[in-house]
Amino acid sequence: MKSILSAALLLVLPLEGLAGTNVHNIHWSRHAGRRSTSLQARNNTGPSPYKLEDLYRGESFLNDWDFFSAEDPTHGLVNYQTKDNAVKKNLAYVQDDGTTVLAVDDFTDVPVGGKRDSVRISTKKTYNGGLFIADFWKMPHGCSVWPAYWSVGPGWPEGGEIDILEGVHEQETNQYTLHTGTGCTLSLNNVRVKTNILHDQCASTPSDNRGCSFTDTDPRSYGKPFNMIAGGVFAHLWNNEGIKMWFFPRGEVPADVDAKQPNPDTWPTPVAFFSSKTCNMADNFYDHSLVLDTTLCGDFGGPTYVSAGCPGTCEQAVANTTIFKWAKWKINYIATYQLN
Ligand SMILES: *[C@@H]1O[C@H](CO)[C@@H](O)[C@H](O)[C@H]1NC(C)=O
Ligand SMILES: *[C@@H]1O[C@H](CO)[C@@H](O)[C@H](O)[C@H]1NC(C)=O
Repeated sequence: MKSILSAALLLVLPLEGLAGTNVHNIHWSRHAGRRSTSLQARNNTGPSPYKLEDLYRGESFLNDWDFFSAEDPTHGLVNYQTKDNAVKKNLAYVQDDGTTVLAVDDFTDVPVGGKRDSVRISTKKTYNGGLFIADFWKMPHGCSVWPAYWSVGPGWPEGGEIDILEGVHEQETNQYTLHTGTGCTLSLNNVRVKTNILHDQCASTPSDNRGCSFTDTDPRSYGKPFNMIAGGVFAHLWNNEGIKMWFFPRGEVPADVDAKQPNPDTWPTPVAFFSSKTCNMADNFYDHSLVLDTTLCGDFGGPTYVSAGCPGTCEQAVANTTIFKWAKWKINYIATYQLN
């Protein structure tokens, strides 16, 4: 099934456009990856044990990330733009205050069934662990809108996928998800989180691509309520103990995060913890690029459209230009850290 799928996709996608996949992406570099995660877990309640590695802010989202412009592998009703076109059409730009905006076209009429211009970018650099901190002022939302901040390795799902911020339509809270090859499950033995488990099988198969996930219980973690408080920070720590995630609403961001001297040992209970006890990190996650995108309808947004309480059809929503006024990422920064 996987090889049938890959052959079919290879026919429609230019090779250089194949940058990972899922639900999100199709990535076909053959990669028998077995490497050690670059971080050892540590318990440190003193000063930050981490050192800033990469700070993506302002123009660096345009220069240090690739613009994916092939057909959306998740079958969304979008035309992903090249960097030149995204900049020319004002779909990717930096405000005077340094905020980076990634937008869906909200100024062009599109017929029902047509596609809307959008942006999908991923880091040129790849990661094998670390502490990742993403500070957003606003995120896209609205009927038909499927935004995600995530990371992905090669040979999907073998290299793994980490979904830190993702949802569709006017979803009420954020979902934290892993997609992997075989042999990775989610178990809450001795793990404390302030969220609910949605599904505990991380492996993606042709018939089940739900991944393992937690849903947040805080409405400020997604969509309009997130934007109303000027967003917040999503942090995730990926090391040999597993992957831990935190959501800090604006106003509750720890001072060490804002000071860029983060020490996760001092932070409150995470929203998600995927323990390496039931999911080997080095086997399941390697060479990840960080990705930001906004697609419309597609594999996730299409089938969930009516049950989400959105009016009409997803195709009709894409044709309603007004909706996309709120389909924008406004990014303060994304920083990566490694142990000192
Ligand atoms: C980490 O440090 C805290 C605070 O000192 C302590 O309570 C906890 O037991 C330590 N955990 C481990 C795994 O050493
Ligand atoms: C388009 O979307 C806006 C915003 O959600 C809504 O108020 C309006 O009724 C919609 N228009 C049509 C024709 O559906």
